[in-house]
Amino acid sequence: METLDSAIAEHLRCPRTRHRRVEDDYAPPYPAWSARAATSVEQVVMGYFGVQSRGPQMQGRACAALMKIAAGFALADGPGHHDLAHYVDAEGFDNMIAIAYWDDPAAHARWSATPQVDAWWQADERLHEGLGYFREIVSPRVEHYETLFNTPDRFEGVGVVMGGLSAPLQEHAYWGSMRDRIPLSQTDAMSASGARRVIAGAPAPGQRVQVAGHENLAVIRSGQEWTETTGQERKLYLEEMEPVLREGMEFLRDQGLAIGCYSNRYMNHLDASGAPLQKSFGLSYWHSLADMERWAESHPTHVAIFGGFMRYVQALDFQLQLRVYHEVSVLKADEQSYEYVNCHPGTGLLNGLAA
Ligand code: HEM
Repeated sequence: METLDSAIAEHLRCPRTRHRRVEDDYAPPYPAWSARAATSVEQVVMGYFGVQSRGPQMQGRACAALMKIAAGFALADGPGHHDLAHYVDAEGFDNMIAIAYWDDPAAHARWSATPQVDAWWQADERLHEGLGYFREIVSPRVEHYETLFNTPDRFEGVGVVMGGLSAPLQEHAYWGSMRDRIPLSQTDAMSASGARRVIAGAPAPGQRVQVAGHENLAVIRSGQEWTETTGQERKLYLEEMEPVLREGMEFLRDQGLAIGCYSNRYMNHLDASGAPLQKSFGLSYWHSLADMERWAESHPTHVAIFGGFMRYVQALDFQLQLRVYHEVSVLKADEQSYEYVNCHPGTGLLNGLAA
């Protein structure tokens, strides 16, 4: 068997003051990989550019706005990769998001300052088009995030701009492995402190609102693609796993605040023409990594999915066509920027702030 790699890239390893949850001779029951960036990459940018609308009569306009945002990615210093996704939120609004990734915050800053991008975003018209817009920009330094893929042949999300691949990992398939994969966990408990707060505007429709995040706020994008599944495997995913996953996602959306989940979106990928793909992900913001861990290891929905996945890989003799991945960041206050334009108060990081 190939030697197991650490999820923490070699140049980010340092003398530990905190232990991993597993012994040095631990071997996971199935393989998984992390993405690797060039050692020159110090920080990445994950930008969530959203358009919010209500009702079928507004969908055309919302799609056009999303396409306009995505067209802007082709400008100089645009992102290395982006996805388009859609979901209907608890209030019944359609939310379409273009998720874009940069491996250089300076390039993102230049792109963002491009007149076509900046003037459009700042324009007063954005408040009066019958649509809501948001930008949730998180920029973790490389010590502050981890990625996990169950297949080594194709990346999603930030992995695409990172471009490289680890050997099969040691730190996965046990509770607490997500934390052990984040380089900062070698020396830091990554506890949350402070509170999110409105720094401009008010959390209400018709407003341009800025929200500041707090220290060690955590975000996860956890996705799955079932395009290539067939027969028994497809049935297993669509009929047994997906309904439980959906239940877990709805719990977080509707009751998440009480357990430290500020916002959860269970999103479906769209292709460039707006048609749904067989790929989805949960995108959620949390008060802390510890709160996220507690949900993952104790909520019956995720426990069932996790256990089901273990059985599933073994039943299929490791020949999975289902692709699963996630990316998790624990963010410093200066790695977060959230702005909402004419969005309802349950949107993203605004959720729970109006009360
Ligand atoms: C079909 C969908 C899903 C499956 C099959 C699944 C399964 C798993 C598995 C097998 C692990 C362990 C990974 C490893 O270390 O090798 C895991 C970890 C985790 N999952 Fe999921 N999951 C799914 C969706 C989600 C979603 C949508 C979220 C939240 C938005 C989520 C949150 C987490 C978290 C936070 C962990 C890390 C737990 C830890 O390491 O302490 N999962 N999941």
